[in-house]
Amino acid sequence: MRLLHMSDLHFGYADPRAIDALRRSVVSLAPERVVITGDLTQRARPSQFAEAAAFVDSLGIPVTLIPGNHDLPLENWARRLLFPRKAFHAAFRTRAGSHAVEQGYELVGFDTTRVYLPVGGALDPRAVPDMTPGRVVGGAKHWRIALLHHPPLVPEGIAPERALRDGIEALDALGLRGIDVVLCGHVHIASVLVAPAGSPAAARRVLTINAGSATCERNPPHEHSFVLIEDCADGLSIAPYRFVEEADAFHRAPGWTATLDREACWQVEPEGTRASITASPASLTA
Ligand SMILES: [Fe+2]
Repeated sequence: MRLLHMSDLHFGYADPRAIDALRRSVVSLAPERVVITGDLTQRARPSQFAEAAAFVDSLGIPVTLIPGNHDLPLENWARRLLFPRKAFHAAFRTRAGSHAVEQGYELVGFDTTRVYLPVGGALDPRAVPDMTPGRVVGGAKHWRIALLHHPPLVPEGIAPERALRDGIEALDALGLRGIDVVLCGHVHIASVLVAPAGSPAAARRVLTINAGSATCERNPPHEHSFVLIEDCADGLSIAPYRFVEEADAFHRAPGWTATLDREACWQVEPEGTRASITASPASLTA
C-alpha cells in the first residue's frame, strides 16, 4: 500500500504555490491513490468546487474523498438547510468516490459534517459497517481504513472541542467493527495518535493519522503538509511532507512508524505529536 493523504485544501483560500508544488509531489511520489479528507473548498461556492474538481482531474490517478465542514454552504442558510451537499456531489460524483477496495486495503469514507454544526462534527457508530475479520487476508496485510474529516483525537495544545464529538467512543465503535486506521484533517496539524492508556482496547486498535492542511492560506507556508503512508515490516510508516517556501516544494520531514503489539493495539514511534512536522528545515529532504 502506498497512499498519499492530503486534507483541507480550501480552494478559494489556498496558496497557489503550494497547490502547484502539491501536484508535482503527487507526480514524483507516484502513490497508488490520493485520499482527501475534506474541506476541499473554503466556502462551498461553485467556483471553488470547480477549482477543486480541476485539481482532482489534474492528478491523473485514483482519488477517494469526503466532505469537510467548509464544503457545506455557510453564507446561504436556505441552501445549507435544503441542499447542503448538492454542490459537493455535483463536483465529485463522477470523479472520486468515498469507497475503494484494492489489494492490501479498503477505504470507507464517512461524512462527519452536520448541517447544525458550522465547525464541529460527529459520527454515528451505527453507520459503520462490520469490517471484521482479520487484518491479514490470504497471507497479505489488508488494512481497513476509515476516512473522517473531524479527528477523533487531537495533539496536545489543540482545544478538544475541535475534535470529533465523543472521539474515543467513535474510535471504540470503529475498532469493534474492524477498522485499523482513521485518516482525518480539520485541525491543520499533521499528527499520528493512538487513544490514551485507559481507553477501551478496541479504541487503541485504531491508528489516527492527520494529514494537516496541504494548502490553506490560514497556515503559515511552512505548516502546509501532507503524508505518505506505506506498509512496513510490522505495521505502517507515515512520512509527513512539508512545504519549504525557498525551494517552492514539499520536502520530507522525520516521520512515524506505527506497529501493532501483542494485543493488536498500536504503538507509535516517536510518540505522535506535532513535533515531527515542526522539525527544522535542515532535517528535511527532497
Ligand atoms: Fe474543517
